[in-house]
Parts: sequence; structure tokens; C-alpha cells
Amino acid sequence: MKERIEQLLEEVNAFAAKNIEELEALRIKYLSKKGEISNLFNDFRSVPNEQKREVGQLLNDLKNKAQDRINELKEAFEDMLDGKDGIDLTRSSDPVALGTRHPLSIVKNEIVNIFSRIGFVVAEGPEIEDDWHVFSALNFPPEHPARDMQDTFFITREPDVLLRTHTSSVQSRVMTSQEPPIRVLCPGRVYRNEAISYRAHCFFHQVEGLYIDKNVSFADLRQALLYFAKEMFGEDTKIRLRPSYFPFTEPSAEMDISCNLCGGKGCPFCKGTGWVEILGCGMVDPNVLEACGIDSKVYSGYAFGMGVERITNLKYQVKDLRMFSENDVRFLEQFKSAH
Ligand code: PHE
Repeated sequence: MKERIEQLLEEVNAFAAKNIEELEALRIKYLSKKGEISNLFNDFRSVPNEQKREVGQLLNDLKNKAQDRINELKEAFEDMLDGKDGIDLTRSSDPVALGTRHPLSIVKNEIVNIFSRIGFVVAEGPEIEDDWHVFSALNFPPEHPARDMQDTFFITREPDVLLRTHTSSVQSRVMTSQEPPIRVLCPGRVYRNEAISYRAHCFFHQVEGLYIDKNVSFADLRQALLYFAKEMFGEDTKIRLRPSYFPFTEPSAEMDISCNLCGGKGCPFCKGTGWVEILGCGMVDPNVLEACGIDSKVYSGYAFGMGVERITNLKYQVKDLRMFSENDVRFLEQFKSAH
């Protein structure tokens, strides 16, 4: 009997369980009514009287020891699940910090998507440009103020190397390297020598478009821009074209949309007029086509250009242009759900 007790004591000391189920199996094997230790208690009757005291003591110790070991292991499992120590496998993991797209990227992508649905493809070009692609090819007269250092950042003079002031420079590159039909969209950053304030910056972003083919008319331009305005600002949006002037288009126009805040009734945002200006456009001047090697008697085309900051402000009412380049996460985080 004593030997059996010792043997079981060794087994109890070696108790190990990988999970609660294994632990419960141990409890049943040793401590349940028909378990190993309970069986010994049944055999206790046959122990000679003079040994009863000693064996009884050992037996009780064994039982307590087994119970303690089981409780110990059980607590360890519970602690693990509570996360007191070890790893709590039931806890959800820490959230992964997600970045956000910059609002200007969100809006630029939206503009590109809208025009790509009517066949425009993206064309890109360098931000550091020469005079020819930015000005001369686009019919700027030699004395035009944009050629002045006050408006344009020059890197060197003679030869003129400068930071592009509009992405129309990409259009001159496309026209000199591709045959019509041409249908491109030119997104990108542009630079102008302006004092930085809440309403002006020395760099900003544009998306310009160019379509050249046979028989392209002003009506085609108007229809494409109406489609854009409705896709961007909603089905009820109206457009209005006002005569304007750009060296590279003739005729030229500026486009307003019905104020997307008041729906055209008039509010402080549209200064009570019901309209807000969003882009410049026109029919490509034949001089530009010829300068770029395209026969202006065969082909005609339209062009348009808009500021991404301007469109973003209309969509999200950002009051201060500087917010776009400061990268304050409190600002950027507000666009988490936008895309
Ligand atoms: N390039 C003009 C600008 O930067 C915009 C424009 C593009 C106007 C094409 C007409 C046609 O302001």
C-alpha cells in the first residue's frame, strides 16, 4: 500500500496538461469516485490497524497534493486566458494604424477617373521645363508677363530653364510626339512665384485635358465639361461658360458651376451669385497646333485646365490652402473615409 501511495505521489508531482480538457481527464483519473486515489481509500480497510494511522496520513497527503496540483494548473490556465500573465489568446489584436490618402490625391484620382470613362489617358511630363514647352509652343508672346521672374521661377536664363507654371507643357510634349487623335489628361504639380497666404501658394496642382481630332467643336468641349461637372458635383449641377483669354486657346472661356453649397440660390461661399468658377478652357489655337507640327487645316481640338486645390475646396471647404502642404495629421485624418 505504501509503495502504491509513493508511486501515485510521483505521478501527481509529474502532472502536466496542455489544456483544460487534459486537466479534467487527470482529475477524473485520480480524484473521481472511481479514480486511483479513491480506490486506495477503499483498500484502506484492509490495512492492518497498527499501520492505519501512518498510512491514513500518507493517503490524505496524497489526496491533498493531487487536488492542489490540479488547482494550480487550473489557475495557470485561467490566468493565461485573463491575460494576467502569458498571452491572452482571446483578445483581439491591436488595431493597425492605417494611413490616409492626401485629399488632393483623392480628388485628382476622382478627376482622372471621370475623364478616363470618356476615353482620356494620363500623360505626364517633367516639372523642370524649358521655355519652349511652357510658353513659346503655347503661343505666349515674347513680352507676356508670365515670362517675367515675378511670375515664374527660373532656374537658369539663356537657355531658359524653369519650373513649369501649368501642365499645358505636357500637352506641348504630347502634341510634338504623337499623331492625332490625341485625348490626354495631364495631372501634376506646378509652380508660380506667389507670396504664400491662405489663398495662394508658390506651388499647387492641376489637371489639364487636351483632345485633338478631326472636326472637334466647342459643343464637344461643353458637353465633356458638363459631364465632368455632373459626375464631380452631382446630377443637378449646371455649368456656365464666360468668354475669357488664354494665349493657347481661341476662343477661350472660363467655366462656372452652380454653387454646390447653396444649389445656386446664392450664399456667402459664392458671394451671393449662385456660381463658382472652376476651370479655364477653349479651342486650341491653330498657332499652337502648327508650332507642334499638327496640320491645323485638318485637325482641331479643345483644352481645359483646372486647379486640384480649387476643386478640393469646393468638395471639402478647406479654408486655408496652406493646410494642403503642412501635412498636419489632424487635418489629413479627416479624409480617412473619403477613399
Ligand atoms: N493653362 C491654364 C492655366 O494654367 C488653364 C487652361 C488650360 C486654360 C487649357 C485653357 C485651356 O491657368
